[in-house]
Amino acid sequence: MIDISTNHNLFVIARALHVIAVVLWIGGVAFVTTVVIPYLKNSHSPESRLHIFESVEGKFSFQAKLTTLLTGLSGFYLQYVTNAVTSIQWWVYLMVFVWAIFMTVLFVLEPLFLHNWFHRQAEINSEKTFFILQIMHIVLLAISLIVVFVGVAGVHGLFY
Ligand code: HEM
Repeated sequence: MIDISTNHNLFVIARALHVIAVVLWIGGVAFVTTVVIPYLKNSHSPESRLHIFESVEGKFSFQAKLTTLLTGLSGFYLQYVTNAVTSIQWWVYLMVFVWAIFMTVLFVLEPLFLHNWFHRQAEINSEKTFFILQIMHIVLLAISLIVVFVGVAGVHGLFY
């Protein structure tokens, strides 16, 4: 027989873990976007700029992969549990969309070619490459924050 209270506790724990994973992951993206990139753009030579960025990115990469996986696992679990009573809400599709973008960048595009492409471009034209990098980060951060807003609003009944 299904134990409702145990399931409910698991659901609440999964929800808290989901939020912690999102905080660490999107918080890291926010820090890189609003602090690291502007700092490097304004105060470093092209060579040290590239070197520092790749070192910082290398350190964040593992954390980003881990928190993205944890967000997905907890998210799919939450959906699996709630699906018993409701159908999939439109804002959950938005979460999966943002998650899929990051998964593709972190696990497919980066190792396949993005890392090398960025390195080459930064050596050829540092200003332009860091500008593109900054725009991409701003766009990803903006989409992520919209999804956080819509997610919280959705869960807490704003759209009913
Ligand atoms: C595979 C990807 C994901 C799935 C399947 C998923 C699924 C879910 C589900 C089902 C809920 C609702 C839980 C409930 O009814 O209480 C939820 C909540 C939430 N999710 Fe996701 N999610 C995913 C990724 C993301 C991403 C990428 C973000 C942020 C960028 C995010 C942010 C949130 C937030 C902020 C909440 C609301 C928490 C609350 O206020 O209690 N999720 N997620």
